[in-house]
Amino acid sequence: MALEKSDKIWMDGEFVNWDDAKIHVCAHVVHYGTSVFEGMRVYKTPKGAGAFRLDAHVRRLFDSAKIYRMDVPFTQEQINDAILETVRVNKLEECYVRPVVYRGYEELGVNPFPNPVNVFVAVWKWGKYLGKDALENGVDVCVSTWSRIAPNTLPALAKCGANYMNSQLIKMEAIVNGYVEGIATDTLGYVSEGSGENLFVVRDGVLYTPPLGASVLPGITRDCVITFAEEMGIKLVEQVLPREMLYLADEVFFTGSAAEISPIRSVDKITVGAGKRGPITEKLQKRFFAVITGEADDRYGWLTYV
Ligand SMILES: Cc1ncc(COP(=O)(O)O)c(C=O)c1O
Repeated sequence: MALEKSDKIWMDGEFVNWDDAKIHVCAHVVHYGTSVFEGMRVYKTPKGAGAFRLDAHVRRLFDSAKIYRMDVPFTQEQINDAILETVRVNKLEECYVRPVVYRGYEELGVNPFPNPVNVFVAVWKWGKYLGKDALENGVDVCVSTWSRIAPNTLPALAKCGANYMNSQLIKMEAIVNGYVEGIATDTLGYVSEGSGENLFVVRDGVLYTPPLGASVLPGITRDCVITFAEEMGIKLVEQVLPREMLYLADEVFFTGSAAEISPIRSVDKITVGAGKRGPITEKLQKRFFAVITGEADDRYGWLTYV
C-alpha cells in the first residue's frame, strides 16, 4: 500500500509541498546512508492530537546525531516546534512522524564533514504496523539467521539509517519464510531485538528484556513498559537472554512506536505459552493504550498536545 501523502513537509525551516520535497541524487546520504532519524506517533485524544513522548524522541534524535558528529543546525526545542507545526499544518488528528537529520549535497568522499547537515520532518497517516489483528492475537515470528550489528561496528544506540540495512535483512528473511517479523540475536547469540522493535519475555510472572549492551535500540516504548512494570509491581529483569528462553516463555511481546505492544504467539513455529496474548502482555497493553489515547491520566507528561 502506497504511503498516504500529506500536504506539507518541513525542510530546513520551510514548509514545502509533499511532491516538491526533494534532495539531490548526489547528496551524501544517498550514497553512504548518512542519516539519523526518529519515528513517533501522534494519537487522537479527547483533548486533541497528542504527540507521544515528543521530548524523548527528539532527545534520541540529537543523541544519534552526536554519535555521528552531526551538528544539527536547530535546537531540540526548535525541532519539537517544527514537529508540532508540521502536524498542525497538515491538519492531522493522528499520524506517524518521521524527522530525519542527514548529510546533504556538497562533496562525495566518504568524509562527511564537508557536507551540510539538513533536517526534514514528514508526517503521514499510518495504520497498525504488524497488521490489524496483531495487537490482539499475536504474530508468528522466527529467529533470524542474521545477527544484530556487532558492538563497536555501527552503534546500536544511534537510530541511524544505515542500521536499517541490517533490519531489512532480518525483515526480508522473515517475510520470505512466511513470518511476520524476525528476532535477531546479538553476535554472541543472545536475544537482541526485532528488525524494528524491542522484545520482552515473561516467565513465571517475571518480565525479562535484553540490556542495552545486547545491540538494542534504547526504545522509548521499552521505557514505557519498564515504567508500567514498576508501577504494577511486576518484577523486571534486564539481562542477556539465551535464545531458548523464547521457546520456554509464557509470553513474549514486541514494543515499538510503530508496533506499539504486539504479542508474539509463536517463535520458529514453537507455540509461546497458550499461543495467544498472555495476561501480563494484556495488562501492559491496556495501560499503554489508556495513556496514549488520553483515557488515563497522563501522570508522566508523555503527551504534548498539538
Ligand atoms: C531497531 C529498533 N529497535 C527498537 C525500536 C523501538 O523503539 P521505540 O519504542 O523508541 O520506537 C525501533 C523503533 O524505532 C527500532 O527500529
